[in-house]
Parts: sequence; structure tokens; C-alpha cells
Amino acid sequence: MTLLRDIEFAVYQGSNHLAQRLSYATDRRLAKPNQVSVLITDICAARCTMCEMWKLKEDNELTVDEWKRSLDQLRDWLGPFFLVVSGGEPFQKRGFFDILAHCRQIGIKTKVSTNGMFLTDKACDRIAEVGPDFLSFSIDHLTREVHDKVRGVPLYDRCVAAIRHLQAADRGIVLGVASVIMEETYADLVATALWALDELKVDRYLVQPLYPTFATDESVDPSWFERNPHWPRIPALLDSQLAELRRLKAAGRPIWNPDAQLDALGYYFRDPKSHPRPDECMVRYNAFNIDPRGDVMFCWTVDERAGNLRRQHPREIWESAHAQQIRDRMKGCQAPCLLNCYRGRSLREQVGLFKLFAGRQGF
Ligand SMILES: C[S@@+](CC[C@H](N)C(=O)[O-])C[C@H]1O[C@@H](n2cnc3c(N)ncnc32)[C@H](O)[C@@H]1O
Ligand code: SF4
Ligand code: SF4
Repeated sequence: MTLLRDIEFAVYQGSNHLAQRLSYATDRRLAKPNQVSVLITDICAARCTMCEMWKLKEDNELTVDEWKRSLDQLRDWLGPFFLVVSGGEPFQKRGFFDILAHCRQIGIKTKVSTNGMFLTDKACDRIAEVGPDFLSFSIDHLTREVHDKVRGVPLYDRCVAAIRHLQAADRGIVLGVASVIMEETYADLVATALWALDELKVDRYLVQPLYPTFATDESVDPSWFERNPHWPRIPALLDSQLAELRRLKAAGRPIWNPDAQLDALGYYFRDPKSHPRPDECMVRYNAFNIDPRGDVMFCWTVDERAGNLRRQHPREIWESAHAQQIRDRMKGCQAPCLLNCYRGRSLREQVGLFKLFAGRQGF
């Protein structure tokens, strides 16, 4: 049965992957999206210094029932797929465990990013029951002192305790640590990776480049990084950390960033205005991003609404003339962008990923 599911998934993803490539080559919509991401809520009780989402108020967010209805529609339309969930802090969304349970019930694999704040033992027991299938903890540095300073509130101990609790429950959840590359952390990326993989024993480690402070208008200033206090100041020091991460990855350690992205990061931190892109941007033909109010976009940065899930079926949005007009406008996007949320994965990687989850947790 599992083998059959693997084959079914591989065949579907394979043909859709080719159709996406063809979409991109001909600039016509010929495929369905395979990167579905949701910001499930805007709210967050942390006080991070590089993200001001914690200043946002809850505003007209989809209810649990509305999410379930849209997820059913997505599942019917797309077949089995990965859903990437972020926020705000996802575990602060009321009814979030019901949404996760629903995903598991209908065969949607979920990945959630968290600051760990609400992951008490009781919450971890619930996670062990209903998912997510992949839980990524945002821990920026191997020391409590640095991490908690960057986050503005004490979160380090809660993250470490939650990881240990979930590992003891042994329910096959894939666990990851993701760190932001910033002035406070960049000299110790390798040490943080090794701490996460060898001491915390998580399955995956990821680095994320510092972007303009979230939920502010800092990005409208092309020279934002010159004033941002978190911008790493010594590119050569970062280069040596990135080279070592690349070496660890080549030696088989589970560093989650694609090689091309690790290479591109060195350029980005030298010249964020015009560094080369690590890959072609295919978001207009493969991504489907949903905000807390159900608005759908291809790219969080370009931020043009293709439609809304309260009023429309996801397929109707994807296939609409309005969506195609947005795609045509996005074609010329010149943003110096690392495709951070849209890391291209080869078909082999996609199937490998699916098998990792399936092998751990079954369908
Ligand atoms: C906005 S958070 C939402 C999920 C959750 N609250 C968390 O912190 O994991 C998503 C990811 O963005 C990262 N992040 C926050 N501010 C950032 C910035 N200015 N540049 C790059 N990444 C950032 C966080 O560390 C986290 O891994
Ligand atoms: S990075 Fe995550 S935890 Fe920090 S303020 Fe933003 S949403 Fe909240
Ligand atoms: S901002 Fe980045 S992801 Fe968005 S359209 Fe431009 S290149 Fe693509």
C-alpha cells in the first residue's frame, strides 16, 4: 500500500513538475501549485527585535471552519500535498490543533514554524497526536543569552524542553531548527548547527537571511540594511561559516538549505541591492500563499491579491484571468530576492521529502 502511494505521489508530482517547467518556459498556466503556504494568524506574543509582527492585532481572520472548508477544497484539487504554516505564532491561533487534526485526517502533510512559546508539555502531547508532521523551531543561537535577547522574551528553555518532550513521545515528527543570519548570530552558525544536530538531535537545520524587519515599511528603503542594527558587518566571516555549512552538508549532515542558496547568501550579505538570484523565480506558476484573511498571493513580497478563499474556490482563483494578469506583471520582477520562501526543490528532493514523512508517520 505504501509503495503504491509513493508511486502515485511520484507520478503526480513528476507530471506536475514537468508541467510547471513548461508553464514557465511558455508563460502559460499549465500546472497546479505545489508550494502551498499559509499565514494562519497575525498575532504573536513574542517581542522579537527583527520582526514586529507582535505589534499586529487580530483582524478578520478565517475561522477554523473556514480553514477546514478551504483545506478540503485544496486537497480535492491538488491531491496529497505539503502545507507550510507560519504566522504570527501559529500555536496562538484559536483552534489550531483542530486545523492540524483535520489536515492529518484528509491527508495533507504539514510543516509549522514556531517560536515555542506555547509548547507546554500538554501542547506537545497534543502535537504528538495530531501533528504537525514537521515542526521547525526558530532558535537563532546556541546560547540562551543570545537567543532570548534577540527574541525579546525568554523562549530558549521552552524550545529545548519541547524538543525533548516530543522526542521522548517518539511519534515520528520531523523536528528542525531554523536560525536567522544576523549580527548577533552569524559568527556562530556552524556551532549552532552542530548544537542543533548533535546535542538537540533534531533532524534538520536551516539558516535564513535577515530581511527588512517584518511588519514594518523598512523594505521600501533600498538601503535599509545600512541602518538595520542586525545586519552582519563582516562578510568574510560569514563566508567561512557558509563554506563550513556547505562542507557539513556535502558530508551528509542534514543542512536544509539548497547548495545554490548557501552560495547566494554570501553575495546577498555583500550586496543586498543587486546580488544574483540563486535560481529562476517560478512562484507565479508553483506557489499559492494564503494570508490570515484568506487572501491569496503568489509571492508575499509582490503582495498583489489574486482572490479570496471566503468567496472563491482555490482553483477558480488560480485559473482566473485576474491571476494571469498578476503573473504577467510579476514576470519582470527585479527584486533582489533569495527566493527564501520558495527554495526550488528538484523532483528527487520532493519525492525524498514525501518518503521521509511517509516512512516516519505513514499516511
Ligand atoms: C515570522 S516567523 C513566524 C513563525 C513563528 N512566530 C516563528 O518565529 O518561528 C517565521 C520565520 O521568520 C523568521 N524571521 C523573523 N524576522 C525575520 C527577519 N527580519 N528576516 C528573516 N527572517 C526573519 C523567524 O525567525 C521565523 O523562523
Ligand atoms: S519572528 Fe515569529 S516570534 Fe518573533 S515576532 Fe515575528 S512572528 Fe513573533
Ligand atoms: S520578490 Fe522574489 S519570489 Fe517574489 S516575484 Fe520577485 S523574485 Fe519572485
